[in-house]
Amino acid sequence: MNNQIKVTPLESEHLEDVGKILVRRLESEYHSLPAINGDFLDIGHTIEYIVNQKNDEFAQSYVAIQGQKVIGFVIGKKNSAANQYNYLSQISVPDSAEVNFLTHAVSDDVDANSVYRELYRALARNWVDDGQIHHSIHIAACDWRTQEAWINLGFGRHTTIAVRPEISPIETAQIDEITIKQARPDDINTVIDMAEILGKHHIDSPMFMFWPVQKKDRKLAKTFFEELLTNENNPHFIAYDNNHAVGMLSFLAQGLIPSHIDSKKNIYLFMGIVAPEAQQNGIGRTLLNVGMSWARDHDYKSSTLHVLNMNHSGWPFWEANGFLPVEYSMERIIDSRLISNNFKKIALL
Ligand SMILES: CC(C)(COP(=O)(O)OP(=O)(O)OC[C@H]1O[C@@H](n2cnc3c(N)ncnc32)[C@H](O)[C@@H]1OP(=O)(O)O)[C@@H](O)C(=O)NCCC(=O)NCCS
Repeated sequence: MNNQIKVTPLESEHLEDVGKILVRRLESEYHSLPAINGDFLDIGHTIEYIVNQKNDEFAQSYVAIQGQKVIGFVIGKKNSAANQYNYLSQISVPDSAEVNFLTHAVSDDVDANSVYRELYRALARNWVDDGQIHHSIHIAACDWRTQEAWINLGFGRHTTIAVRPEISPIETAQIDEITIKQARPDDINTVIDMAEILGKHHIDSPMFMFWPVQKKDRKLAKTFFEELLTNENNPHFIAYDNNHAVGMLSFLAQGLIPSHIDSKKNIYLFMGIVAPEAQQNGIGRTLLNVGMSWARDHDYKSSTLHVLNMNHSGWPFWEANGFLPVEYSMERIIDSRLISNNFKKIALL
C-alpha cells in the first residue's frame, strides 16, 4: 500500500468522510468539555456547516488522503474583519488567517503530526503568498494530540475560551466604601474610560495585544458603547469608590461565542477590569458576583469569555472563579521580511 499522504482540495466527494472524522473528534471531546454544542454530533448538521465554511470567499480547504482513504481535512480562512473599521474589528489582527475549531480533524488511527503538517503546508503556502503572516488554529483544551501536532509546526497557546458552567454566587467580602451601579446611557464616558484602562492593560507586557485606545479611537468607542448601553441586555456594572469609578464588568447579549459552544442560556462576559491602583482588594470578585446575580435573575445557566493565556492577572482571576478552558487558539507569526516582493525576487533568482 502507498503510505504517502497526498493533499488535495476538499471536494464534494470528500464531504461524507470529512464529516465523519470531525464528528468522531467532537464525540471524544464532548464529555470532557463544558458547554459543547451537541448539534455538531449530528453528521448532517456538521456536513452542512463544513459546506458553508468551504464556500466562504476567504476560505481554502484541503483533505489529506492515504491510499484511497480520507484521513484528515482543514479549512482555513483569511481574516476579513480587519478590512472593516469599527471598535471590535480594530482588535482583530491584520494580515491574519485562521482555522476555526470546527474546520479541522484527523482520523484517530493515523499520526496527527504528519497529517496536520501536510495540511498546514498547503494552507500556509497560500496564506503567506497572499501576505497573511499571523496564523492561528482553535483546538479543544482537552485535545493534547492536536495541540502537540501544532506545537511541532511552530504554534503556541495564545487565547483561551473559558466557560463557567454555573452561575452560582462568587465568594466575596463586604467592601464598605465600594458601590456598584449599572451604567445608564449617560455614563458613556465612564464606560469608555474603563474600556481604555482594559485596553492599556492588554497593550502592556507580556500581552502586547493591540487595542483602540488612542485619542482618535474615542469616536469609534463612543459609537460602539452608545449602542450597547441602550440595550438592558448588555449590562455594564461600574464599581465606584465614593464617586470615583474604579472597575467595570460587562456582558454582551450578542456575544462572541463561537458555534461549537452551546450559547443557549450562556451569557458572554465581555469586559472585566479593576483600575491598577485598586486591584487585589476584592473589587473584581464583588463585580463578578453582581454580574452572576444579574445573570441568574435573567435565567442564564453559564457564562463564556475570552482571555489571553499570558494575561498575568486576568487568567488567574477567571480560573480561581470557576471558568474552565474549552479551547485554545494557538498562533504562529511568520517573519514579515519573507513577504516583501524584493526578497522573493532576490531569493528565487
Ligand atoms: C482580573 C481583575 C479584574 C481582578 O480584579 P481584582 O479586584 O484585582 O481581583 P480581586 O481582588 O477581587 O481578586 C483577587 C484574585 O484575582 C486573581 N488575581 C488578581 N490579580 C492578580 C495578579 N496580579 N496575579 C495573580 N493573581 C491575580 C487571584 O486569583 C486573586 O486571588 P488571591 O488574592 O486569592 O490570590 C484585575 O486584576 C484586572 O483588572 N486585571 C487587568 C484586566 C484584565 O486582565 N481583565 C480580564 C480580561 S480577560
